[in-house]
Amino acid sequence: MTVKTLTLALGERSYPIIIGQSLLAQAGKYIKPHLAGKRICIISDAAVADLHLQALMAGLADLDGCAIDSIILPPGEATKSFDVLEDVLGQLLEKNFSRNDCLIAFGGGVIGDLTGFAASILKRGCRFIQIPTTLLAQVDSAVGGKTAINTKVGKNLIGSFYQPKLVLADTDVLGTLPVRELKAGYGEVLKYGLINDPEFFGWLTQNGGEKIIACDPKALAYAIETSCAAKAAIVKQDEREHGVRALLNLGHTFAHALEARAGYGGTLLHGEAVSAGMLMAFEFSSDQGLCPPEDVERLRVHQDKLGLCTADNLAAILFEDPKVLLGFMAADKKNTNDQLNLILARGIGKAFLADNVDKDKILSYLTQKKEG
Ligand code: NAD
Ligand code: GLY
Repeated sequence: MTVKTLTLALGERSYPIIIGQSLLAQAGKYIKPHLAGKRICIISDAAVADLHLQALMAGLADLDGCAIDSIILPPGEATKSFDVLEDVLGQLLEKNFSRNDCLIAFGGGVIGDLTGFAASILKRGCRFIQIPTTLLAQVDSAVGGKTAINTKVGKNLIGSFYQPKLVLADTDVLGTLPVRELKAGYGEVLKYGLINDPEFFGWLTQNGGEKIIACDPKALAYAIETSCAAKAAIVKQDEREHGVRALLNLGHTFAHALEARAGYGGTLLHGEAVSAGMLMAFEFSSDQGLCPPEDVERLRVHQDKLGLCTADNLAAILFEDPKVLLGFMAADKKNTNDQLNLILARGIGKAFLADNVDKDKILSYLTQKKEG
């Protein structure tokens, strides 16, 4: 299968997004042009390292004269924390890592977000490269330069915008991903259809979705390319989310509240929360008379058919106290001056940013969810 290269065009911060099979084996070739120093440190999690670090190291073997080191972290959302960040930065400082040296984020969105944040603040910024290993990271988190850690108050509230030098997405590594993780990542694929691409939504509903969950290489390549191209087009217009980039957060305000409510211990994965949150955004839009109920149904039917997460199959305890959920929603980054700003939809492919959404209406919707 051919290797596809997209570009995220951001002037001097532009970078290639390379998508294809067997890329780990050629990682050195792709990475070499982006190096300036003599040291590389791969940051990964234990599950990814067990499965794929050897292959990556072999692929980097032809980088003559470059010392390659690794830091292996525990898998899971809890790794995106101040404690882990401090530990990683401490280790890099002890190695005397310099600005020209290069961090490689080798893992899912957790590793990508943490490594990107570490790279952005280590000596005020060192180089970094994303080698995403989950579907979610290949279609979303590795692209666009958002980096973050979580706090008790909410998700991703501490972070930076900091672009990688390269994104290298080897679709073969997805072969070892558990189905639950593939389905979680699928939520972010579906998002692009729901935001502004009804044709892509159509492809996903006409069997594309099933093929992706079955890890069909052609379907994966098409979905990853389409998703990265859609994200690159939006980020190019609005790198720091002053406007259109907010659309990429469709469903995320509901999702982040559910994740914060669930704790970050793995009972609810980010992509699962996004899947549930997108349907909630559509339902809420429909309740407000903004979105045709048929479009909500099309989305619900598709999600049910693929066995994706929705509010209806989440633990009831998450909805037990709607005011707590609303509190988490109110802590979202998109909010300004105490106003709640949400991404809503006028239909499939018609998402928009709604400013100052009435909190009482949201509370009443969340109360309905509690009552089932
Ligand atoms: P993750 O990084 O926790 O990875 C999921 C699990 O899959 C982990 O247990 C990991 O060990 C395992 N894994 C990873 N690759 C594997 C492989 N190839 N084979 C087998 N197991 C593998 O989770 P995620 O879903 O990739 O990312 C979620 C995170 O991404 C959240 O923290 C979310 O906030 C963040 N995110 C960031 C952005 C952004 O723009 N920066 C966008 C979306 C999501
Ligand atoms: N995942 C949302 C964004 O990158 O803007």
